[in-house]
Amino acid sequence: MNTARAHKITDDILRRLDRPVVLTGMMGAGKTRLGRLLSRALGLPFVDSDEEIERAADMTINDIFERFGEPYFRDGEKRVIRRLLDGELRIIATGGGAVMQEETAQAIAADGISIWIRADIPLMLARATRAEKRPLLRQGDPETVFRRLVDERYPTYARADITIESNDGPEDALLVAALQGLYDYLYK
Ligand code: S3P
Repeated sequence: MNTARAHKITDDILRRLDRPVVLTGMMGAGKTRLGRLLSRALGLPFVDSDEEIERAADMTINDIFERFGEPYFRDGEKRVIRRLLDGELRIIATGGGAVMQEETAQAIAADGISIWIRADIPLMLARATRAEKRPLLRQGDPETVFRRLVDERYPTYARADITIESNDGPEDALLVAALQGLYDYLYK
């Protein structure tokens, strides 16, 4: 996509976009990266639900899991995503497990436009094990846990409005795929 086309497509998207764009997918899929790119391209604010949870709890995700357990984290996650969906038009990156709570999946389906970012498993796993905020991957062999979560979650991720691939390649390609997906969704 050349620059003129990119400007035209972002203008067209903004003309019709009336709900937040919600990025879903496994840890390491690139939700935060794409969120920042989309935010810049569309001139909309970007918010990461994990960061919001950490801010609200004044604790890291690791500490929340360690001190209060996963159900407590999921409860906060559900409330934070509900609040973000009710706010201004923006790009929201969710944590990988967020849509596994049916209430959250339904809220996103009703009040957002969802983009599932898929990538090759070894690539996502390599990216995910690099960062600190993935306590689930410490609950056993990371690859075994990751593959189990993929099996459990893919049918739910597949309910997204738009699906794009994010393997190693230029950032531009990821952004263009997301913009094209949004355009097609809004003008279908
Ligand atoms: C989780 C993914 C993490 C974070 C938490 C749980 C998951 O977010 O919310 O560690 O259940 O997949 P990212 O998907 O941004 O890594």
